[in-house]
Amino acid sequence: MGAVLKGAIAGFGFISGKGHFPAYQQRADVEIVAFADLCPARLDAARAVAPKARFYATWQELLEKERELDFIDISTPPAFHAAIALAALARGLHVLCEKPLTPTVAEARALVDAARAHRRVVFPAHNYKHAPVVKFAQEVIRSGRIGEVRAVTLNTFRTTHAKGVKEWNTDWRRDKKLSGGGIAMDHGSHSFYLTFAWLNALPTHVTAKTLTLDKQFDTEDNLNCVLTFPSGFAHTFLTWTAGVRKVVYSLQGTQGALVIDDDDWELTVQGKLERGVIESDWMDASHTKWFNSLFDQFRTAIQSGDFVNRELREAVACIQIIETAYRSSAEGCRELPLPLDVTAL
Ligand SMILES: NC(=O)c1ccc[n+]([C@@H]2O[C@H](COP(=O)([O-])OP(=O)(O)OC[C@H]3O[C@@H](n4cnc5c(N)ncnc54)[C@H](O)[C@@H]3O)[C@@H](O)[C@H]2O)c1
Repeated sequence: MGAVLKGAIAGFGFISGKGHFPAYQQRADVEIVAFADLCPARLDAARAVAPKARFYATWQELLEKERELDFIDISTPPAFHAAIALAALARGLHVLCEKPLTPTVAEARALVDAARAHRRVVFPAHNYKHAPVVKFAQEVIRSGRIGEVRAVTLNTFRTTHAKGVKEWNTDWRRDKKLSGGGIAMDHGSHSFYLTFAWLNALPTHVTAKTLTLDKQFDTEDNLNCVLTFPSGFAHTFLTWTAGVRKVVYSLQGTQGALVIDDDDWELTVQGKLERGVIESDWMDASHTKWFNSLFDQFRTAIQSGDFVNRELREAVACIQIIETAYRSSAEGCRELPLPLDVTAL
C-alpha cells in the first residue's frame, strides 16, 4: 500500500456522489481512479467531477480491468453489497461498504470469512458514530458523569423514505429485492451500533413490530424495537411517516442523563442541568463531514492488518438484530434470542 490509497467507487449515487466523493477530494491520501455504475447518467455525473478516472457499466468489468486498486467503496443498494465485496476481496482489495453491510447474516458471515481468508479489511460505513454530538455522548459516558448507562432510547423521525438519485430508481428502498427490507434494514444499523457503544455490550434478545402504513410498497416504513442488554434496555423507534425530520436520543444513567435533540443536548448530573448545542449537520443526509473520521479508521485498519475489525463484527451484530426483529414481528412480537456471538467470529 502506497501513501496514497487508490480506490474505485461502485454505485455513484446519492451517498457516494454527495457524501463520500467530496470527502475523498479533500484528502491528499486517497485517489478515486475508477467508477462503476449501471446507470449511464450516473457515470456521466462521475465523469463531470473526476474527468481523469476510468468508467465502467458494471462492477465486474471494473474489477477485471483495474489492476492497481487498493480498495473499493461499495455504495450500491444492499442487494449487491455481498457479491461485489466477495469479488473484490478475491481480487485482493480492501472493502469499504455502505450500511447495511448485507441484507442477511449468512452473507455477512461469508464476508467475515473472506476478509480473514484473503487478509483484506472489510469496513462498514457506520457513520453516525462520527456525528459530533454523538462523539460528545460517548465522551460523557467515558467521563463517568452520568454513571452506568441503564437505558437508552433512539427515535429517528423521517417524513419519507430516503430517496436514491432520480436518474436511477429513487424508490429502491421500498423494493425488497433491492433493499432487503424497509426502514429497519435501511436505518436499523445506525441505531443499533450506537446502542452497543452506549450500553457497552451486545444485546441478548430482541422484540419488535414493523408496520407498513404506505401500502403501495412491499417494505415496512415503521419499526418499534426493544433490545435487552445485560445492563438494561434499548428502545429504538424508526419511522418514515413522521411529521418532522429529527433524531431524539436519550441516555439514562445511574447518576444522571443526557438527552440529544438533533444538535441540542441537555445533560443532567445529580439533579444539575446543563444545556448546549453541537453543530452536527443532521439535516444534511450526505454526512460528508462525518466521512473523514470514518475513512481515517478504515485506513488505520488497513495499516494495522485489522481485517476482521470491531466495526465489521458490529455490522454482523446489527444484521442479526434486523433479521431477528423481522422474525419477532412476524411471530406476534415474540421475544427472540440473538444467539450468534459476533466476538467469536
Ligand atoms: N451511511 C449513511 O448515512 C447512508 C446514507 C445514504 C445511503 N446510504 C447507503 O448507501 C447505499 C446507496 O444508497 P444511495 O442513497 O446512495 O442510493 P442511490 O440510489 O442514490 O445510489 C445508488 C447508485 O448505485 C447504482 N447501482 C445500482 N445497482 C448497481 C449495480 N448492481 N452495480 C453498479 N451500480 C449500481 C445506481 O445507478 C445509483 O447510481 C445504500 O447501501 C444505502 O443504505 C448510507
